[in-house]
Amino acid sequence: TERTLVLVKPDAVERRLTGEVLRRVEAKGYRLVALELRTATADLLDEHYAEHRGKPFFSPLVEFMMSGPLVAAVVEGERVIEGFRSLAGATDPTVAAPGTVRGDLGRDWGTTVVQNLVHGSDSAESAAREIGLWFPGL
Ligand code: GTP
Ligand code: MG
Repeated sequence: TERTLVLVKPDAVERRLTGEVLRRVEAKGYRLVALELRTATADLLDEHYAEHRGKPFFSPLVEFMMSGPLVAAVVEGERVIEGFRSLAGATDPTVAAPGTVRGDLGRDWGTTVVQNLVHGSDSAESAAREIGLWFPGL
């Protein structure tokens, strides 16, 4: 069985959508194995989004992710990495499919960086790296 890192981003926490996101994760049949409300530091986000260093949206992305508390979770289940990405929907919430978190609950607010409510690891390698970063004790 597999594990993935899920972040309920600051926009979702601010909009009181934490419960809705976690509800969908649990309704799908996945299991929470770690869960924490916290405010991320620049250092942690610099590591988390290392693949985007140097891109024009990197600074706004880190600023946005530090703009308020977020919820970090480790979620477990068969093929959960792919499964959560499917629940989350496409990166751009304007075109994310209805039925997904981003498609049902997200939109473009005209902000510099697209605010898309959730993060989920995109591969087994990313999941291992990100879980080690956010939950070093696990
Ligand atoms: P995460 O789950 O947050 O990693 O989103 P993702 O995997 O769907 O997208 P990706 O890892 O490619 O990008 C990370 C974040 O950077 C996205 O959630 C967006 O907020 C932002 N981002 C990605 N690509 C672009 C882009 O081309 N332009 C802008 N403005 N922002 C982007
Ligand atoms: Mg990503």
